[in-house]
Amino acid sequence: MTDLLDLAKMESGEMKLNITDFDINELIRKCVIKLETLILEKDLAVDAVFEEEDLMVSADPDAIERVVYNLMHNAIKFTPAGGKISVTTRSIKDAAEITIRDTGIGIEESELGMIWDRFYKSDKSRSRDKTGTGLGLAIVRNIINEHGQRISVRSRLGEGTAFTFTLAKAGGSPADKADKQ
Ligand SMILES: Nc1ncnc2c1ncn2[C@@H]1O[C@H](COP(=O)(O)OP(=O)(O)OP(=O)(O)O)[C@@H](O)[C@H]1O
Ligand SMILES: [Mg+2]
Repeated sequence: MTDLLDLAKMESGEMKLNITDFDINELIRKCVIKLETLILEKDLAVDAVFEEEDLMVSADPDAIERVVYNLMHNAIKFTPAGGKISVTTRSIKDAAEITIRDTGIGIEESELGMIWDRFYKSDKSRSRDKTGTGLGLAIVRNIINEHGQRISVRSRLGEGTAFTFTLAKAGGSPADKADKQ
């Protein structure tokens, strides 16, 4: 229920971002710890590959935690036992780039455009996961859009999926952050 309420708020422009500087790598570690039980239950290997020890970004930490948590939660749900999940961060110019990759069931090419829609679940995931409501990615995309950043997906059916999004690096040029406050 809160997902739906939050989504409505975001879409009516009521979401207020609290932009601060924080280490995205640390936030990712925190999410891995929160999801540890699920990861262990499915015997998944989780690999965090950080280009640098810490990577300071300028964003709303609570909102971004929701993004990382949702993407990792999907990766876990849609990856069969024994599979692998990797989270990579790297810095490119003024941006930090975060990729969450899995070796799961993948998404049909014809469905790739629809996964961002509220309540959309692929037929495959419907049979596999009866709990989700299909709001996670709609929320993720809204949050990234509100930050003025981008998110994209690449996937191959039966092989796996990778979601990549960007964030402004801390200490970037003021123009980068201008309309995100
Ligand atoms: N990592 C992934 N691998 C395969 N399919 C995915 C992955 N992430 C998302 N999908 C597909 O996109 C659909 C929408 O994802 P979304 O996170 O919005 O919903 P959900 O996980 O089903 O439910 P909720 O997030 O509300 O609990 C999923 O149901 C699934 O079909
Ligand atoms: Mg989800």
